[in-house]
Amino acid sequence: MPTTELVSIITVDGPSGSGKGTICRRLAQQMGWHLLDSGALYRLTALAAHHHGISTEDEESIKVVAAHLDVQFLTDHTNDIKIVLEGEEVTDAIRAEKIGTDASVVASMPGVRQALLQRQRDFAVKPGLIADGRDMGTVVFPEARLKVYLDASAEERATRRYKQLISKGVSASLEDILADIKSRDERDMNRTVSPLKPAPEAVILDTTQMTIEEVLEVVLDEAKHKGLR
Ligand code: C5P
Repeated sequence: MPTTELVSIITVDGPSGSGKGTICRRLAQQMGWHLLDSGALYRLTALAAHHHGISTEDEESIKVVAAHLDVQFLTDHTNDIKIVLEGEEVTDAIRAEKIGTDASVVASMPGVRQALLQRQRDFAVKPGLIADGRDMGTVVFPEARLKVYLDASAEERATRRYKQLISKGVSASLEDILADIKSRDERDMNRTVSPLKPAPEAVILDTTQMTIEEVLEVVLDEAKHKGLR
């Protein structure tokens, strides 16, 4: 029996901008569980490849980079997570738009996904894990007790991202963000390995018209029904 079956896991999958990141952070805080931001691992692979001068087309070399990622996720006293790659803090650097696009390219490589699989499963430790990603419920943690799939229209997701960037003082174009979200959806949903899709038993929530608090309430209710809290 995989050790992950002994640990309570809630998986939260969905496309970019569906609110997964915020929801997962809040869930982990409220439940006192660990958090896996699996997208960060694909972003870190893309950034490490960039640091080593490796092209995103060189699948063989990127696979090696993914298998040997030297990364630490450090939690400080405010519970914020600091990400350190090869000794350098990259918490903000991995959020750049270009790294997100490169991450979705390297994430379509079967060897890269395989190289990161066990590293993700290792996050499943007691008292429990909130796993944020695209294939958490379908591939990485198929035995999870509760699986959630968050969706929202591409327009709403682009608007959320636009507002987030503007509030940080970063100039952005809504049109460019929407085009990027659509091409990332296309790549994530149509790749041959681990495409983005809800697990058959997932609770599917369209968050287009929902606030963070409303989504959180539904997920916490489901967790209660499953005896997870
Ligand atoms: O969630 P985030 O935007 O940080 O993820 C970056 C990219 O990594 C996604 O666009 C997706 O292509 C890929 N990803 C994935 N599987 C996961 C998490 C992220 O393929 N479990």
